[in-house]
Amino acid sequence: MTDFPPLQNDLLLRAARREPVERTPVWIMRQAGRYLPEYRALRADEAFFDVVRTPELATEVTLQPLRRFPLDAAIIFSDILVVPQALGLRVEMIPGRGPYFPDPLRTVEDLRRLRRPDVREALRYMLEAITMTRKALAGRVPLIGFCGAPWTLMAYMVEGGGSKTFARAKGWLYRQPEASHRLLSLLTDVLVEFLIAQIDAGAQVVQVFDSWAGVLSPDLFRTFALPYLRRIGEEVGKARPEVPRIVFARGAHASLAELAEAGYDVVGLDWTIDPRQARELTGGRVALQGNLDPCALYAEPETIRRLTHRMLEAFGPRGHIANLGHGLHPDHNPDHVRAFVEAVHDYVPVASE
Ligand code: CP3
Repeated sequence: MTDFPPLQNDLLLRAARREPVERTPVWIMRQAGRYLPEYRALRADEAFFDVVRTPELATEVTLQPLRRFPLDAAIIFSDILVVPQALGLRVEMIPGRGPYFPDPLRTVEDLRRLRRPDVREALRYMLEAITMTRKALAGRVPLIGFCGAPWTLMAYMVEGGGSKTFARAKGWLYRQPEASHRLLSLLTDVLVEFLIAQIDAGAQVVQVFDSWAGVLSPDLFRTFALPYLRRIGEEVGKARPEVPRIVFARGAHASLAELAEAGYDVVGLDWTIDPRQARELTGGRVALQGNLDPCALYAEPETIRRLTHRMLEAFGPRGHIANLGHGLHPDHNPDHVRAFVEAVHDYVPVASE
């Protein structure tokens, strides 16, 4: 393992452990991306997955938002779909349309097309990008590693791309529960290895994105998503207990109480749940992350400030990581992103005692 410079800003790590902090830490999902002119300029000459696969470029893009805003964490520039690629599926990123799998999993027989990769070999480019970024950060803020959750990855692998309903993938859960469990279990094995490898490469926090948890009924979530999320949280926690784990299961409100006991330090929230209600449901067992509506950033900076302060007040000062309830949009104005970040910085908590 490499030696890295000491960390100067550990607000995120302390908030994740629910320790007292002088100020709530803030980072933003998709903080590197198309809303930044410097990202668009770089992408004009490079295909999406070429950026992801070239550690120098991934490092550069990871650092772009940190040059502009006083963020309290970097998140490595990559994508959750590098794992289906490592298992042998082709994935393309079509500009303006999103991910596309030319040959998705159609039938159970297609599972035979998947191979269990040597993670440190097949995903070496991301591990190298993490080490390179960690060195470039020189201890300014912690670096977040990440992966997609088994269900969300299965959803793309079966559907072949984005979808409003993920009906085809859900069809598998209802029609072929056994084959679905086999696929989810294979993904889980790979993801546990992958997160541990990311930590060894230099990730100081890891986040699991279950972006499509919300299309599942509570029953399906408990059967096909939660057990695998739990296995990842617990196995990574056992292997590398010092590194905080965040789970973001978008739309999984019905299962928040269970998510708070699934082996994670932090539960990420989307904007459709009230922070106080989320605190009640999770009962102080975990820190919470989120959850301003990304569309609130279309408001004027003064309104953004007010809404952000209101959100901080609702979460309270302990065990909260400020973020949006989902990623930034390509048409967000960087000045409005700044207003959000600065509003977190200049918030003075109302005395509670
Ligand atoms: O700054 C960061 O957040 C780090 C980088 C990051 C990306 N994708 C870069 C990206 C992260 C953490 C992800 C995770 C990811 N990828 C998720 C989970 C988070 C979420 O948004 O729910 C999902 C579902 C994906 C799959 C994916 N990748 C989709 C659906 C798309 C299309 C998005 C769109 O709006 O068109 C991508 C592409 C992608 N991943 C972009 C970026 C910056 C935009 C593509 C481009 O530059 O052309």
